Amino acid sequence: MSRQKIVAGNWKMNKSLKDAKSLVEMILSNTKDSDVLKIIIPPFPYLEPVKQILSARKGFYLGAQNCHTNTSGAFTGEVSANMLQSVGCQYVIIGHSERRNYFKEKSTDFVLKIREALKHDIIPIYCIGETLEERKNGYHFSVITEQLTSILSEFKLEDFSRFVLAYEPVWAIGTGETATAAQAQEMHAFIRSVLCDFYDSAIAGNTPILYGGSCNAQNARELFQCPDVDGGLIGGASLNEDFCTIIGSF
Ligand code: 13P
Repeated sequence: MSRQKIVAGNWKMNKSLKDAKSLVEMILSNTKDSDVLKIIIPPFPYLEPVKQILSARKGFYLGAQNCHTNTSGAFTGEVSANMLQSVGCQYVIIGHSERRNYFKEKSTDFVLKIREALKHDIIPIYCIGETLEERKNGYHFSVITEQLTSILSEFKLEDFSRFVLAYEPVWAIGTGETATAAQAQEMHAFIRSVLCDFYDSAIAGNTPILYGGSCNAQNARELFQCPDVDGGLIGGASLNEDFCTIIGSF
């Protein structure tokens, strides 16, 4: 995907249908048209109703929080990229640390899921991030390199050019402890250097890389000013009016 400003709201497992509809309506009425690409990522049951509300508005897109590795079949409780496409989803989060930790998903799963997403014209938002322990022990760069290259080795440049990346340090997710702008910039620049070594400098410069982890209405501007940070993947602060402030923080 070409490099652009992006703010994506990952609602995780929150809201009732009624609250979901009110939240989207509030976001639409409090957001001015701009060059920021906005992605709303609600739980599966709300995708279609949220799509209905978003469809009239320029600059807003629909995303899903996960997809299965297969296109269809006997996988009780699962949702395929094929289904997501049929309800108008344009993005899907893959590799979120909550999927890695709680559901024990691995790179081999992410590769299959990303292939399914791309096959159905859905852009993967591939998440990477180190734990606090890994950072404290000085392994953060090697962890990020591994999480990236295990995926990159499976995709040709043409396919990777459709990706969005999100750097989400696990220690910052839902903790209120944000990476400093300097820490975010350092890691985003490092990610571009990995992309440059693996593919080339054009793809390194063109890939949108979002920051995620306790990004909020107060710290978004400083983070988004970093030259290698293209926007945010927002959890908690995407569930209220702070999301609109974050969208306006470039
Ligand atoms: P928080 O913004 O709640 O820390 O969550 C970030 C995240 O996990 C987005 O995917």
